[in-house]
Amino acid sequence: MHELARELNQALKDSVAGSLLSETGRRMFFPKGIVAQSAEATEKAKRFNATAGLATLGGQAMHLRDIFDQFVPGSFVPNDIFSYAPGGGDMRLRKLWLEEMIVKNPTLNGKKISMPLVTAGLTNGLAMVASLFVDPGDTFVLPDLNWDNYELIYHHQYGANIRKFPSFTGEGRFNVPGLLNVLESAGTKKAHLLLNFPNNPTGYSLTETEQDELVEGLVALAEKGMILNVIIDDAYFGLFFEDDIAKESIFAKLCAAHERILAIKSDGATKEAMVWGFRIGFLTYGAKGLTDRQHDALDKKTLAAIRTSVSNCDRPGQSLLIKAMQEGQRYEIDKQAVFSEMKQRYLVLKETLKRFEGDENLIPYPFNSGYFMAFKTRKSAEELRRHLLDRYEVGTINIADTTLRVAYCSVDLEKVGELIELVYQAAGEIWN
Ligand SMILES: Cc1ncc(COP(=O)(O)O)c(C=O)c1O
Repeated sequence: MHELARELNQALKDSVAGSLLSETGRRMFFPKGIVAQSAEATEKAKRFNATAGLATLGGQAMHLRDIFDQFVPGSFVPNDIFSYAPGGGDMRLRKLWLEEMIVKNPTLNGKKISMPLVTAGLTNGLAMVASLFVDPGDTFVLPDLNWDNYELIYHHQYGANIRKFPSFTGEGRFNVPGLLNVLESAGTKKAHLLLNFPNNPTGYSLTETEQDELVEGLVALAEKGMILNVIIDDAYFGLFFEDDIAKESIFAKLCAAHERILAIKSDGATKEAMVWGFRIGFLTYGAKGLTDRQHDALDKKTLAAIRTSVSNCDRPGQSLLIKAMQEGQRYEIDKQAVFSEMKQRYLVLKETLKRFEGDENLIPYPFNSGYFMAFKTRKSAEELRRHLLDRYEVGTINIADTTLRVAYCSVDLEKVGELIELVYQAAGEIWN
């Protein structure tokens, strides 16, 4: 093992992050190679900076004018668009994101968490978490209704042993007891858990009560000796449409809950700032008792994971986002407009569903937030998906042949009612 990796492991010794590192994670270190030397030279090499593989003229990145001229004159210098971003992301963006995260999650005030590191979208962050923390055979707990990419990453790519629990209780509440039971009955000392609210595919977010119960339950397991890696996918954060929903991420509580709980927040501008194609996500760490030195070691391990996967993330996207967050006149207004639009569609959808109560072909799962809702289907969800597509030119998603996901985020308000009517009609045609 490389000496630098050994030093980082030594720093992380006796911390929850250290006990959770995978074999790969233990081997990771951030080399004092090209990137580190370039960063040092950026500060000190005032005469000639002959470090990075980037063609410059007069200190600015050389570029195609056909690209640069697309931007409003004076808004950016070439380096803002064409140069490499630092491995962990532009520090201005990292600070802005952290400040915004604390405003959105006031419980974080005064708590020690890491400076968010920029990832190439949430997916890249989630995959890096796998490389740093997940070994083949590890227990990895997911709700049965989850985003299919989790299994692709954590099981198929990294070999974790996935254990699922039914997402909802018979009373239509989030199944906190089921989740805790699966974790405990796994019988392993260490386990990973992925939480995603608002959820894809159901569109469900925890109520305040459920969130408190879950935090309490996880702390109780940690108290009994379990070492927990809780990965929190907050992709759809903020799209909360009901009063009783917990409006802060569960990360805000878990990041300081227990010495044996590592909380990792994966979030991003993707959906929150509506820049799906930009590929800007963030990873933020928190655990009770993690020292500055341990946070620093964890950052370096993550920087290594970035360096070995995407090297660094999208520069123009980061520059554009910084400008919007810092100087934008309509940043909050436009985000609020999306929220209002989604909430109206949600309300219409709920209203329309009332007309179909008792229809046993399609039972809606509880939903209160986000972009989606999903039905439990009486028969093959794939059959229904195909029928909707072939007969009505309506696209939906079949999950495991038992669930049909409807992304109402991409259907205009005045069409949402019609969409739901068609889904029920189509199900009636093939199953009644
Ligand atoms: C729950 C969830 N997490 C993460 C992502 C992916 O985010 P990104 O596009 O930033 O990789 C998605 C996108 O569909 C999602 O539904």
